Amino acid sequence: MEHGLAERYARFARFEAAGQSPLYEALAWHVSQSQAALDFLSRLPPDRQQPNLLFAAIRHATGGTVAPSDMTATLNARSDAIAAVMMARTTQTNEPGRCAVLMPVLSRIPGPIALIEVGASAGLCLLPDAYGYAWGQHFLPPPSLPGAAAPTFTCDASDKTPLPFRHPEIAWRAGLDLNPLDLRHAADVAWLESLVWPEHEARLARLRAASAVAREAPPRVEAGDLMQDLPALIAEAPREATIVVFHTAVLAYVRDQADRDRFADLVQGTGAVWISNEGPRVFPQFAAGLHGRRENMFLLAANGAPLAWTGPHGQAIDWIGPNV
Ligand SMILES: C[S@@+](CC[C@H](N)C(=O)[O-])C[C@H]1O[C@@H](n2cnc3c(N)ncnc32)[C@H](O)[C@@H]1O
Repeated sequence: MEHGLAERYARFARFEAAGQSPLYEALAWHVSQSQAALDFLSRLPPDRQQPNLLFAAIRHATGGTVAPSDMTATLNARSDAIAAVMMARTTQTNEPGRCAVLMPVLSRIPGPIALIEVGASAGLCLLPDAYGYAWGQHFLPPPSLPGAAAPTFTCDASDKTPLPFRHPEIAWRAGLDLNPLDLRHAADVAWLESLVWPEHEARLARLRAASAVAREAPPRVEAGDLMQDLPALIAEAPREATIVVFHTAVLAYVRDQADRDRFADLVQGTGAVWISNEGPRVFPQFAAGLHGRRENMFLLAANGAPLAWTGPHGQAIDWIGPNV
C-alpha cells in the first residue's frame, strides 16, 4: 500500500510536476521517500491521497507553501487541519484559460447557443463570451462591458486553427457540478486559489480577474451528477437555441470507462452539440485513428470527432481537424 503511494508520488514528480512546478516536484519526491508522510497519507481513504489534493490542502491549512525540508514537521504539527481539508475538499481547479481552446469550436456554432457545462466547478468556463483572447497575433478583445476588467487569455495556436473574429452568441447558460463552488464565499475562493500551482502566478492573476467578472453576473451552476442530472438541465434550455454540452478536465473523475461511454451515449442521444476537452485516455476511441498520442495534452473533440490537441490549461491549441 505505502509502496504504491510512494510510487504514485514519484510518478507525479517525474511526469506531472517536472518542468511545471519545481516546488511540487521537490515536495512529491520528498513524500515518496518520507515514511512519516506516507503514514499520514495511508490513514486517508484512497480517493483522498492525490498529490494535488495534499499540496493544496497544506497551502490552504497553513496559509502558504512549505519547503520540502519543512514538510514532515508541518505534517506532524498540522496533521488534523490538513487531513480535514483533504476530507472536505476535492480537486476542483477552475481554469478559465481553457476557454481559449473552446472558442474556435464555440464561435463556429450558429447562435443563439444554450451552453451547458458539466463539471463546471465555479463556472468560470461558462463565460467564454466575457473574456478577451490573444492567439499569437490574432486578437479578440473582451466585450466592453461595465464593471470589472475582463482578462485576456494568451494561447499558442497552430497555423491551421480556425481562429474566431467574434464571440459566440450565448443566450442561456448553466453548469452542473457534484459540488459547485461559490465565488461569493471566501473559503471557496481561497480553495480555488490554493489549487493553482505555486509558480503559476499568471494563472492565479487570470483566475482572480475572471472571478471578478463572474461575480458581477454569476453563472448558474447546479449541484448534480453529470450521469443523472444532465437531461433535466437540457430540458430547461430554450428550444430555439442550439444546445451545446461541454466538459474540460472532468471525465477523468468518472473512473469506469463503461460509465464514461454511457455518458457519451447519453449526450449524443440528446441531439446536443457535444464538446469534449479531456486527456487522450479518457475517450481512447477518439484518439484511436490519430498518428501518435500526446500524453501531456488534452484532445478536443466535437461529437466524437477529434479536432485539436490542446494545452491542459488552455495555453496551446494544435488543430488536427478538417480545414475550415
Ligand atoms: C478539475 S475540475 C474542472 C473544472 C472546469 N471544467 C474547468 O475546466 O476549469 C473537475 C470538476 O468536475 C466535477 N465533477 C467530477 N465528477 C463529476 C460528476 N460525476 N458530475 C458532476 N461534476 C463532476 C468536480 O466536482 C470538479 O469541480
